[in-house]
Amino acid sequence: MKVLVTGATGTVGRQVAAHLGGTGAEVRALARDPRALEQQGIEVVRGDLADPHTLHAPLAGVDAVFLVWPFATAEGMAEVLDVIAEHARRVVYLSSAAVRDHEQRAERLIERTGLAWTFLRPHVFAANALRWATQIRAEGAVRGPYGAATMAPIHEHDIAAVAVRALTGDGHDGASYELTGPESLAQTEQVRVIGEVIGRPVRWIETSPATARREMLDRGWPDAAVDGVLQAQAALVTEPGPVTSTVEKVTGAAARTFREWVHDHSSAFLQGR
Ligand SMILES: NC(=O)c1ccc[n+]([C@@H]2O[C@H](COP(=O)([O-])OP(=O)(O)OC[C@H]3O[C@@H](n4cnc5c(N)ncnc54)[C@H](OP(=O)(O)O)[C@@H]3O)[C@@H](O)[C@H]2O)c1
Repeated sequence: MKVLVTGATGTVGRQVAAHLGGTGAEVRALARDPRALEQQGIEVVRGDLADPHTLHAPLAGVDAVFLVWPFATAEGMAEVLDVIAEHARRVVYLSSAAVRDHEQRAERLIERTGLAWTFLRPHVFAANALRWATQIRAEGAVRGPYGAATMAPIHEHDIAAVAVRALTGDGHDGASYELTGPESLAQTEQVRVIGEVIGRPVRWIETSPATARREMLDRGWPDAAVDGVLQAQAALVTEPGPVTSTVEKVTGAAARTFREWVHDHSSAFLQGR
């Protein structure tokens, strides 16, 4: 079978393309700039999800699509799905456990295509910790609000492992998989684990939500996105995020811990010391 992987230069899609290589499936990666994937040893085809006409060539001969939707709204998705449905028979969509307005719309649009579908609904990515890397390298500390916000970050490797099962195996059509890592950790604990793995203490410095808000706005985040992030973090203080066993159920292997994720990315927190 042949699988088209979108978002193949990104956190999850890159892993999906790599994992598929070991299954015997033919892998084709979609990229706006194919040079970004030159070193991967996989077929790469130029295409842009913002321009559905560019997707016919990448989709020729494809059976299944791993779909990352990189936009903040579902606008334009119906047209993209029409093109996918002309060529492929299955789509695995990287949704979100938050199932915000645009993800809900996206899921409804996919359900109507007639394609076989699987929705992956991950909670917080462990990879979000990379946003702390600059501060950790510079001062061995992370400044932020809601240090007690507690969640079970998921390794991108495990999201990809589930995606590959759904893309290439039977029994996943019509399933919505809520995915998390194996253990709940407060943000303060995540920062401590990073310090333990890199062999250098890392402190959490609590800042007020108002300070965090101002900083995000200064960095150009839209108002609504800032409010959404801060509200979600506040909610995780009083009600920690869930821990699901879906990764293990689908793949047969235990989900990777946050500590393992830090091991796999420790250079990001160490370079330039
Ligand atoms: N972070 C979290 O905690 C979290 C939790 C749940 C769900 N999610 C969901 O995960 C998704 C993001 O996945 P990710 O982190 O793996 O992605 P990512 O690392 O942010 O990368 C985005 C990918 O989309 C591609 N892309 C951007 N614009 C494109 C376009 N016009 N046409 C084709 N490709 C385009 C990028 O390719 P280029 O190289 O061309 O830029 C890149 O490969 C989002 O939908 C988000 O809602 C995230």
